[in-house]
Amino acid sequence: MHFTLQSEFWSRRYKENESPWDLGEVSPPLKEYFEGIEDQEMKILIPGAGAGYEAAWLHQNGFSNVYYMDFSQEAAEQFCKQNPSFPEKNVLVGDFFGEENSYDLIVEQTFFCAFEPSEENRCRYAEKAYQLLRSGGKLVGLWWNFPIEKDQIDPPYGGSLQEYISLFKPYFSSIRFFPCYNSHPSRQGKEYFAIMTKKQIHS
Ligand SMILES: C[S@@+](CC[C@H](N)C(=O)[O-])C[C@H]1O[C@@H](n2cnc3c(N)ncnc32)[C@H](O)[C@@H]1O
Repeated sequence: MHFTLQSEFWSRRYKENESPWDLGEVSPPLKEYFEGIEDQEMKILIPGAGAGYEAAWLHQNGFSNVYYMDFSQEAAEQFCKQNPSFPEKNVLVGDFFGEENSYDLIVEQTFFCAFEPSEENRCRYAEKAYQLLRSGGKLVGLWWNFPIEKDQIDPPYGGSLQEYISLFKPYFSSIRFFPCYNSHPSRQGKEYFAIMTKKQIHS
């Protein structure tokens, strides 16, 4: 297994406070999207949640069914310490690819770019998101708009619009990737905001 796929790699980075991906606040485009959701009881999964600003924001703003997930024990512990009112049973310390519950919404932010970017892994992500969503459920969030560099070793691993569309097309309909207009200042011009709906596959 590639090193970056191991939870210890991430736990060490959190312990050593080496987390340059950490925005220090809820991501502005996600906050704006959350503000438009009417059903505050929808079941939401945030995989690879790290410091969990999105989970915390949703919880603090009345969403009652939000699940924080990260396979780094250290990340989850730091999140619980920072957010003592967040329900412990909604903190999932585990591997996204092993998750089996169902959700109405899965929120993506710097998780897809964090694991080894093989075609196999990326296809597994798309398929897993599809499997975890209930009928009509949505995968929503942010994807980088820059390519993976030649000889790149560490994340974040980017991608192209063409790759993203072909990955998600078998599992999702109404796939919309927009150049993100309201990114965090440190990410201006570097990401897409995307929304897609679980496909109804008829046999
Ligand atoms: C780059 S960090 C991003 C954290 C957070 N989304 C943010 O934006 O601050 C990637 C996170 O994904 C987690 N992660 C990586 N692979 C995972 C997996 N297979 N299952 C669950 N979490 C995973 C890591 O532990 C790490 O916290």
